[in-house]
Amino acid sequence: MTAQIIDGKAFAATVREKVAAHVARLKEVHGITPGLAVVLVGEDPASQVYVRNKGKQTVECGMNSYEHKLSAETSEEDLLALIERLNADPEVHGILVQLPLPDHLDSDLVINSIDPAKDVDGFHISNVGLLGTGQKSMVPCTPLGCLMMLRDHLGSLSGLNAVVVGRSNIVGKPMAQLLLRDSCTVTIAHSRTKEIEALCRTADILVAAVGRPEMIKGDWVKPGATVIDVGINRVEAPEKGLRDDGSVKMKLVGDVEFDSAAAVAGAITPVPGGVGPMTIACLLANTVTAACRAND
Ligand code: GUN
Repeated sequence: MTAQIIDGKAFAATVREKVAAHVARLKEVHGITPGLAVVLVGEDPASQVYVRNKGKQTVECGMNSYEHKLSAETSEEDLLALIERLNADPEVHGILVQLPLPDHLDSDLVINSIDPAKDVDGFHISNVGLLGTGQKSMVPCTPLGCLMMLRDHLGSLSGLNAVVVGRSNIVGKPMAQLLLRDSCTVTIAHSRTKEIEALCRTADILVAAVGRPEMIKGDWVKPGATVIDVGINRVEAPEKGLRDDGSVKMKLVGDVEFDSAAAVAGAITPVPGGVGPMTIACLLANTVTAACRAND
């Protein structure tokens, strides 16, 4: 069997088109332009790339983008004061503080200082609680993107066995909540899980979100399963040769060993071009949702 490839890049483009159409209607009918504020503390190169992409796509969808780049030495007091200003600003409908934050800043305190209605990441403790109890909330972007791809590919998820590998607050735990809400039988696996390979083989839906390059092999996958690979890992690619400076070229791989898994799965997301593009598309969708709710 060779798996169908779930094209997250193409799916994300259709989500962005819908977002842009919604933004145009909000402007025309209500005179509202949704605005997203992104706060970056420090100069982490990967975070800088993410923040740039978020800003670019926000503007391409017709929304306002406000970027706040702060030095790595910014005090907690100054960061909290900025968030307070953004909370009070009616032009700002969504606020995202890029993680990870430098060590001297308390991430939980910072995230929980964001107005929950503007928390487009869905990380505020109120949104976590609302999601866990099945109430209307802001939903974290990466798991939301995974859920959209699963529903699109499988239709109803009701009664399916889902295994989520990884228990992070950003992906694993909210992913499990969303799958449970769609009536899956959900298991969360992690580094201490016993017989993890056999457990993964019970999964009709296998979501890999551990951050370990190619950890999940083809023989962990149930034949015909739908595999969602959240991992984005940079690894050396000696097969691609050397850079001009003599160092080994790099490539991106997921948490799933793609070739062996694709030989067994019914469908699989590639890396890159799977979950990644859906995350930003869902962030844009969450910003529009926040702007609509602010207007209700
Ligand atoms: N860093 C890595 N992923 C994310 C995300 O989804 N949101 C934020 N705020 N920071 C991140």
